[in-house]
Amino acid sequence: MTGKLHQHDAHSANQTFSFNAENLKKAEVIVARYPQGKQQSAVMPLLTLAQQQNGNWLSKAAMDVVAGMVDMPPVRVYEVATFYSMYNLEPVGKHFVQLCTTTPCWLRGSGAIVEACEKHLSVRCGQTTADGMFTIKEVECLGACVNAPMMQVTSVDADHFYEDLTPENVTQLLDALASGKQPKPGPQSARTSSEPASGLTSLKSAGGK
Ligand code: FES
Repeated sequence: MTGKLHQHDAHSANQTFSFNAENLKKAEVIVARYPQGKQQSAVMPLLTLAQQQNGNWLSKAAMDVVAGMVDMPPVRVYEVATFYSMYNLEPVGKHFVQLCTTTPCWLRGSGAIVEACEKHLSVRCGQTTADGMFTIKEVECLGACVNAPMMQVTSVDADHFYEDLTPENVTQLLDALASGKQPKPGPQSARTSSEPASGLTSLKSAGGK
């Protein structure tokens, strides 16, 4: 699919929105979690569900449907959607790449990661590639500081963290995603999970490395 067609499809979807049968059931389950009279508390998970169904962005029509479901003035739903960075208010690429540049990631070289992505994809942060494949964005801490620098990639309806990034491995990850592969999420270095980057420093006698 070309980028143009992708954008066109996304904009067509902007005109109307309704939850499909499967998501309508999920939405009803979400709303039922909250006590009678407190259904407005479901606004965020409902927006997330609507965004997932709508190609990872929220059209006005989608937000209006959510407002109707929780009996909330639409403007209050727009306020929620514009406040939180995880909601996209414009169409995004097939792979939505969020690059963390908060202090721990910055200290571990996130500037070079952003530069490598921008150069490799020929777009700046906040932009989408001409083929509609990638949107890259700078974001605040995503909670994986111990494996900094890192990025979150949302593809269709799955979110994956990629950690211990370098300018080299991040471009390899982008190439793999572009060719339809699903690279292994998590640390891209040799370490397992959040082990100390230089090897274990405690509990060594328990069979650690
Ligand atoms: S600072 Fe980047 S994940 Fe926390």
